[in-house]
Amino acid sequence: MNLMNAKQPLPRAPGADHDDEHRIAELLSRMTLEEKIGQLSQLNADAGDLRERIRSGNVGSILNEVDVDTVNELQRIAVKESRIGIPLLVGRDVIHGFRTILPIPIGQASSWNPALIRDGARVAAVEAAAHGVNWTFAPMIDITRDPRWGRIAESLGEDPVLCSALGVAMVQGFQGDSLADSGSIAACAKHFVGYGGVEAGVDYSSASIPEIELRDVHLRPFEAAVEAGVATIMAAFNDLNGVPATANEFLMRQVLREEWGFSGFVVSDWNSIPELVNHGIAEDDVRAACAAARAGIDMEMASRAYPDHLPGLIESGAIPLPLIDDMVSNVLRLKYRLGLFESPFTDPRSFPPLLDAAHLALAHELALQSCVLLSNRDGALPLKREALRSLAVIGPLADDGYEQLGTWVFDGDARDSRTCLRALQALLGDAVRLNVARGLEGPRSRSEDLFPEAIRVTQESDAVVLVLGEDSILSGEAHCRADISLPGAQERLIEAVCGAASGKPVILVVMAGRPLTLASVCDRVSAILYAWHPGTMGGPAIAELLFGLRSPSGKLPVTFPRMVGQVPIHHARKNTGRPPAPGMTSHIDTIDARAPQTSLGMTAFHLDAGYTPLFAFGHGLSYTHFSYSQVRAARDQYRVGEIVEVFAQIRNEGDREAEEVAQLYVRDVVGSVTRPVRELKAFQRIRLAPGESRSLVFRLPTDALAFHDARLRRVVEPGRFLVWVGGSSEATEGSAFELIEAP
Ligand code: GLC
Repeated sequence: MNLMNAKQPLPRAPGADHDDEHRIAELLSRMTLEEKIGQLSQLNADAGDLRERIRSGNVGSILNEVDVDTVNELQRIAVKESRIGIPLLVGRDVIHGFRTILPIPIGQASSWNPALIRDGARVAAVEAAAHGVNWTFAPMIDITRDPRWGRIAESLGEDPVLCSALGVAMVQGFQGDSLADSGSIAACAKHFVGYGGVEAGVDYSSASIPEIELRDVHLRPFEAAVEAGVATIMAAFNDLNGVPATANEFLMRQVLREEWGFSGFVVSDWNSIPELVNHGIAEDDVRAACAAARAGIDMEMASRAYPDHLPGLIESGAIPLPLIDDMVSNVLRLKYRLGLFESPFTDPRSFPPLLDAAHLALAHELALQSCVLLSNRDGALPLKREALRSLAVIGPLADDGYEQLGTWVFDGDARDSRTCLRALQALLGDAVRLNVARGLEGPRSRSEDLFPEAIRVTQESDAVVLVLGEDSILSGEAHCRADISLPGAQERLIEAVCGAASGKPVILVVMAGRPLTLASVCDRVSAILYAWHPGTMGGPAIAELLFGLRSPSGKLPVTFPRMVGQVPIHHARKNTGRPPAPGMTSHIDTIDARAPQTSLGMTAFHLDAGYTPLFAFGHGLSYTHFSYSQVRAARDQYRVGEIVEVFAQIRNEGDREAEEVAQLYVRDVVGSVTRPVRELKAFQRIRLAPGESRSLVFRLPTDALAFHDARLRRVVEPGRFLVWVGGSSEATEGSAFELIEAP
């Protein structure tokens, strides 16, 4: 189902629209300095003096008001009662749905389906716009390789190519063909930049990222979003290489404006301007306001350093008035593009009802495609209805409509959720008796008091479904974990249930906001279906996958470590001077006593974990098997500037139709700087009937092989490239080609 015209052109990058620029200049000429500074201030809806400040022209935006009548009242005050009559931007975090809650972004990213994700963002935009919201603080496109960081839940994973494609899809969904269209809202690419690289995965802490990596990895999704026309950018909380993003001229002036030509506006994150004092780069709020304005923060979120201190800074000459005019122009430009001057008010009757069938159907499809089948020993899944008389359903997350929604759910309602247990009841009816037990009071319970009941229902049933994982509070902003194993007594519960199952299938369904370390349970259970936090329709999606109505097709957008001590671990690692032998493993218990100093292989690995992850980036099983063959570049040699064509054969070897995400990886064997052993360059989602074969073609401009060299030049270097095509970053079917200089 495609909610938008599939042939829609990419929205124009926000270049100068002459009429708007003329209108901006004309309006600026009529504004007082106080009114100009007012446009640079966003206040939370609970601000005590909000109406007075809007009436006096001191507010350019509000956030966190979603009562449409209140929004219309505030717009009326701004437009009709203030002297200058400029409408408000109304912001809200619509991170993965408004009232119809979609899977959390890391879950959506597991679909590797830009079109579906775009449609999901459109559903979110339409439901939010019906409440007067015209700006959302999404997509979050921080690249992260650290599952300790709670905000990995909001991310689109570890890879810049995948994150760019999916982040652009969300921008397109939110902003539509035109920002002035009904249901379109301004998007905000965040958090600019490097937030996903915070030390030890601790939120808000420092990020130290070499500029080569910053440009080749972290900046790329933001550049793609800017090229796609994202209306706004949000600065990150963290300091980057010693300079907080909120006061980082390199990022906001050189990269964003000069290199990329961004013409939207930059908003601070919540209170991050005064927090420059905490960072220790400003003695007080006055200097913090000065540093932020000079660096390129156009609008201040929630705090009041700008309204309090910009007048004095302008008076003293520390901030020149033309800079203020530029900042105000950036804000006004979006208001004109949104059509707010023509229609500042919202008529909710002009929108589809919340949770309407099309919205729920899309959430359902996205949940289906977001679940990743991590393991499936001996084909334990799919479960076969006709072979079961009874099924044990165990776990505190089996019937919890609140927790399955995940983090950053402001306007969703747990009562709308279809839970896993209810969906199994609906799917199985009386044909299969469900024996239900919580096993644990809550996901973090350490008590084994409820284990006996879980053991009993296990013994009474033909198969077991355990629904475990994290409650939603354990991920999201400021919710980081140093130990990323299953919380509480869950591992002991799994052990107890598996011990009582005596050979029956024990299926583990995990709901979580991050990759968890599952090595200790992976070989105990029959199969693991990773559902992330799947949103409103998570239950039916999980039930249908468990019983084979659909085959799982999700692929991991982020690497799963064996142990948290391996972090950061990801697919695009460097080879090092001492790469471990391919496929080597290591377990600390197997090392001989008094093993000679150099007997274990002097290479890059952990004695207790080896060097490989538990599940690799791009991994995801299906109920069929897809075989890849005949991977080859069309030519042995290409010139810089040409299109490299890579062919592959794929075949569905099984007896059921299923979807697969075919992935193309390359390795630049020799570069002027060290290059990753694998880099994702392209992917295709395809559906194949049983026995069907297809020829795949990937067309790769040589520019896609570019990287930044030691002198920070963006280069495409001649040399030998290896290519692989397969169903994960561990693809083995490969080929090679030579890249030579253009004549
Ligand atoms: C938060 C988050 C940001 C969010 C903003 C508004 O602190 O860092 O992602 O959009 O404040 O809620």
